[in-house]
Formats: sequence, C-alpha cells, structure tokens
Amino acid sequence: MAKLKISDLAKIRDRVHEQINLREDGAQVKITVHMGTCGIASGARDVLNAAMDELDKSGRTDIIITTSGCAGLCSQEPMITVERLNEEPIKYVFVDNAKMRQIFNRHAVEGEVQTQWALAKGSEQ
Ligand code: FES
Repeated sequence: MAKLKISDLAKIRDRVHEQINLREDGAQVKITVHMGTCGIASGARDVLNAAMDELDKSGRTDIIITTSGCAGLCSQEPMITVERLNEEPIKYVFVDNAKMRQIFNRHAVEGEVQTQWALAKGSEQ
C-alpha cells in the first residue's frame, strides 16, 4: 500500500467536508459564483442573476447557489464552481449569462460536465 502524503490527507479532508456540507443542507448541488473585484468587473453579477433565474425556473430545492471571494485567476473571470454530491468540483472560466444557463441545466441538473468551459476538476489546497 502506498504511503499517504500530507497533500493526500488534505484532499480527503476537503472532499469529506464538501460532501458533509452538501448533505447537511439537504442539497445535491452547490454552485459558487466567485465574486472578487475582478469577477464583478468581468460580469459575475450577470452570471449570478442567470444562475438564480435558472434555479427559479427549475423549481429545484436541492440546488444551492452561493458566492465567494476571488478564485485567484483574474484573467479568467467570471468563474464558477459546480459541486455535485459525491463528485469532484468543477471550476468553469469565462462564464457569461448564456454559459451559466447551459452549465446550470446540463451540469448542475443533468450531471454532464461542460468540458469546453471547464478549467479544472477538484479543490484547491
Ligand atoms: S483579484 Fe482577481 S482573482 Fe483575486
């Protein structure tokens, strides 16, 4: 059996925290719109509004939409992270209103990652 590294333990911890957080909220999906200064300047408010609108239209009560600070990549904003229960989080870049609506319906609801706009899979350290 391979030795566990500190970074492996951190990944396990983060994954468990995410799953527990989603379960405790009774949610299946969490969408985070990163709203640092650069995100807002790039259109993150429009992205957030599109996500909220799609949530309203869907009638889903098990999808959470939240915001966070910047994601650390000014040049690729607006960015969002989609976390489905028991799946790796996916970070999307250069999101706009139309992309947000497609990501909501295809990934958040149906589980199909929109790889054409995905930057990365997994959580940061
Ligand atoms: S200020 Fe742009 S990513 Fe943090």
